[in-house]
Amino acid sequence: MTGPLHDEDLLAELAAAHGTPLYVYDLAAVRRNLEHFHAFDSVRYAVKANSNLGVLRTLREGGARCEVVSAGEIARALAAGFEPGDMVYTADLMDRRARQTVRDLRLHVNAGSATMLEQVASLCGPGDVTLRINPGFGEGHDEKVTTGGAHSKHGIWHEELVAVLARTRELGLRVTGLHVHIGSGLKGRLVERTVEAMDNAVALFQETVTRVSCGGGMSFPYRAADEPFDMERFASLWLAGRDRWSEAVGRRLELEAEPGRLLVADAGVLVTEVCGMKSTGEGGATFVLVDAGFHSMIRPLLYGAFHRIAALGAGDRPTSPKMVAGPLCESADVFTQGKAGAPAPQPLPDMAPGELLVIHDVGAYGAAMASCYNSRPLPAEVVIHPDGEAALARPAIDPNQFLEREQELLR
Ligand SMILES: Cc1ncc(COP(=O)(O)O)c(C=O)c1O
Repeated sequence: MTGPLHDEDLLAELAAAHGTPLYVYDLAAVRRNLEHFHAFDSVRYAVKANSNLGVLRTLREGGARCEVVSAGEIARALAAGFEPGDMVYTADLMDRRARQTVRDLRLHVNAGSATMLEQVASLCGPGDVTLRINPGFGEGHDEKVTTGGAHSKHGIWHEELVAVLARTRELGLRVTGLHVHIGSGLKGRLVERTVEAMDNAVALFQETVTRVSCGGGMSFPYRAADEPFDMERFASLWLAGRDRWSEAVGRRLELEAEPGRLLVADAGVLVTEVCGMKSTGEGGATFVLVDAGFHSMIRPLLYGAFHRIAALGAGDRPTSPKMVAGPLCESADVFTQGKAGAPAPQPLPDMAPGELLVIHDVGAYGAAMASCYNSRPLPAEVVIHPDGEAALARPAIDPNQFLEREQELLR
């Protein structure tokens, strides 16, 4: 494996300079990953996957637009140089801050519920809107990220579209976009069904539709044995849909992809320092205890997600199955867990305090989902620019930075 995220000396230097836990992103990899989507008419990056400014800027420079879901993400996208016209705000609901920002910037909204249409019309008046459709089925790497079907809170239920058409006309809204995103970590089993489900939607909104979005969700091969996502098949089925719909409506429709994970997953690692080891006796487990925890990267705890973990600079020291656990006062604070917390040890050497581990493929939903649980800081983030230069992109954020203010408030 090549590239800066596999350069052990560089990662060790960065950890020494900026402390751990530390996220490191390879911006050249982000830029390269855009290539996966070359067959689509346009690419809209789902900012929630990783909202680091360096990542956002790289994708904007590569020609992507963006999808945002909060006032905070809008601010970050603007700071990275995206124009309001480059953004779509996806909303099953809008909180107060979002409503204000969407109104002030006149953002295009992808409405995920019928009530959203009422809000969009009252906030922005007559104008263009996209509909996020729940086609009645979904798929994902975990039940928790399946975003279609009767038990998903996302999207406008497919049987409501006729009523929605009538209501958008009454409100003076033009439905220019149709969007579907059935889940994250798709294997591609339901592509035909999803494309077919859009036939009806395109027919209903044929007078106004200009763009169809197939959403994101394309899976990333986290394990060496995982099959890479079959983009050729996925794209060709959607492109055939686009051509069919374009012919039916008498103008060329745009086909947009809205990925998060596949653009950034392999472009990030989390470097963490070993603080000690312990064992739980015969038939038990051996733990490597590190300074990153589920406050730094929550995917194993949340989904039983696998992330390959490697010891930095360990050469060919002998390995044995080991658990890797963090510093939080929570027994679930373990990186090596499968579904429902099942132990999933990985081969690692014995490690001494001060040595480093690298948790791989955390560019998507890693730092973006980090928290300050146990009053611990959010990790710092370093970017490696395409010319090889590494730079601190965001310092660690200490929740105690407002401690004095909190004390004042309590007086
Ligand atoms: C509306 C929407 N679009 C795109 C994405 C990106 O999904 P992924 O990162 O799996 O590609 C998501 C993720 O949840 C989403 O909710």
